[in-house]
Amino acid sequence: MPSPDYAEKIPNNVSLADDRRLQRALESWQPNFLTWWETMGPTLPTQDVYLRTAVNVGREGWAQFGHVPMRDYRWGIFLAEPGPDRRISFGRHKGEPAWQQVPGEYRAELRRLIVIQGDTEPASVEQQRNLGATAPSLYDLRNLFQVNVEEGRHLWAMVYLLHAYFGREGREEAEELLHRNSGSADAPRILGAFNEETPDWLSFFMFTYFTDRDGKYQLGTLKESAFDPLSRTCEFMLKEEAHHMFVGTTGVDRVVERTAQVMVENDTDDVAALGAIPLPVLQKYLNFHYSVSLDLFGGETSTNVANYYTAGLKGRWMEERRKDDHLLDSDSIMVDALLDAGTGEQSIAQTEVSALTGLNTDLRREYIADCAGGVKRWNRILDGAGLPHRLALPHQAFNRKVGAFAGIEASPAGEILTTAEWEQRKSQWLPTDTDKTFVRSLMRPVYERGKIAAWLAPPRNGINGQPFDYDYVHLA
Ligand SMILES: [Fe+2]
Ligand SMILES: [Fe+2]
Repeated sequence: MPSPDYAEKIPNNVSLADDRRLQRALESWQPNFLTWWETMGPTLPTQDVYLRTAVNVGREGWAQFGHVPMRDYRWGIFLAEPGPDRRISFGRHKGEPAWQQVPGEYRAELRRLIVIQGDTEPASVEQQRNLGATAPSLYDLRNLFQVNVEEGRHLWAMVYLLHAYFGREGREEAEELLHRNSGSADAPRILGAFNEETPDWLSFFMFTYFTDRDGKYQLGTLKESAFDPLSRTCEFMLKEEAHHMFVGTTGVDRVVERTAQVMVENDTDDVAALGAIPLPVLQKYLNFHYSVSLDLFGGETSTNVANYYTAGLKGRWMEERRKDDHLLDSDSIMVDALLDAGTGEQSIAQTEVSALTGLNTDLRREYIADCAGGVKRWNRILDGAGLPHRLALPHQAFNRKVGAFAGIEASPAGEILTTAEWEQRKSQWLPTDTDKTFVRSLMRPVYERGKIAAWLAPPRNGINGQPFDYDYVHLA
């Protein structure tokens, strides 16, 4: 394994120096990436930020921390170390050696999977670009920028694969990844959740909890891929992704903690006037971000995904730990479904399909179980404060735009509603303009070292052993 060469423009452990053609392709893409970063990336001017930079992949530490100007961040290309004699663990090619090149028959599908994953990475940077202006503390501001630069690096990871393995079409797709933009009318991002705005920090914490967690599960399936460079890229990305979810988990923790504290101190549920976020508003934000993230897993059944699995392109979450034949062609699964759709008798129930067709459901269920863990922790905070209130995940038919429930409206409890009932009641369940305006009204920047906004509790610890009042960011 060559160690990264910092004399090069693009730090990497893929022996870029030995492949002049690829190196030139990436070096010509880099200025376009920087232009994108300058025009679509963070808007708050800074001198430097205390950032983690990936510098290697080994166990002995893969990252360096230090104050760096964001424009000079070293977005590198790192693949996890190759496994010795890695074999394909599922599907029709099970037991064969993993692919080091793209098989011609799967070229289009693999390219598509990489483009869809790649498209989400810069999208979130675009969605979050204005949040610096209202950061609740320098610690939070630093975490936002950390997530942003790493999503930028994840874009590099996917662009590397497109350039290295997909020829001219790959290079064209790499350009397109910079041309599409979140929320754009003519060239939007591919997936719905990545065209929603992230206008405030409550949304940011919910996004990093729920939507980055979708990313974790998607990367987990691609890590199983028979195409070894994709597998190794995703394995390394998952290391960085863990911090993004930490930002979401502890971010929501700290909102709940602060709200609970204000509720107890003032013996009231109505904390809005006291500058904290009321629990019903938190619940509505949770409902929104969870339901749009569920859509990212696609329909309950999918023949495309069945084909991807059989071909070895995309596995299951923790594929190798599953105790079955890893072919699934004679198994079945119960998936959620709308029975008697469109009739007066329609109901939410389950139906049996082949295990291959139901793979999206399998992945979504893993994700839902993981999300439930967050709700449990937030409820523990409420319980610890002596409050009887609880947060909950809404039913999976609630507010869905993709899959079996896209055509109906359902309450968070999973009761099917008429359009009129939905219109009448949705303001109880999803953030209204009034809620959003209120949350935005709390978003005043706090850039003083060691200080924090009133709607959020400070973190238990700082970053990389530094204290909370460390100078994480130097503003310009
Ligand atoms: Fe990412
Ligand atoms: Fe992420």
